[in-house]
Amino acid sequence: MSYSLLLAQARALMQGENDYLANAANLSALLFQEISDLNWVGFYFLGKSELVLGPFQGKVACTRIPLGKGVCGTAARQGRSLLVPDVHAFEGHIACDTASASELVVPVMRGDCLLGVLDMDSPTPGRFTSAEQTMAEALVREYIQASNSVSFTPF
Ligand code: SME
Repeated sequence: MSYSLLLAQARALMQGENDYLANAANLSALLFQEISDLNWVGFYFLGKSELVLGPFQGKVACTRIPLGKGVCGTAARQGRSLLVPDVHAFEGHIACDTASASELVVPVMRGDCLLGVLDMDSPTPGRFTSAEQTMAEALVREYIQASNSVSFTPF
């Protein structure tokens, strides 16, 4: 799967739909289908003071992650993507699925405002490349652009 094709597919999937949950659900499914060697992909959204589990594909996961905790909470707090080649070497990594060996987390931001994160896990160490990080960031931008008229506050 070429990344420009995946981006085009994501754009087409979200065209005409502005609901943040519907788009997150379909985007998770698309990425899980099209990106090889993933065991988990999905969203966490910012609740009052922590990340709360959103739509995903994969095994059941922890429902709440405090800001600054785990890979997701750290990426959320720092407002930047985190590419972790070996999750066992990341202090404070939260192991939802013990199969996960590497992880890529991209913050979902509108301007300076944190809305959540997109999280991808792979059972293969060093699975994610910086090119994939760039692609995931582009996908998140498409997602934000499409899901423009709804509140992202789950509570
Ligand atoms: N590993 C993540 C927790 C979420 S799961 O991977 C789905 C973390 O350390 O934040």
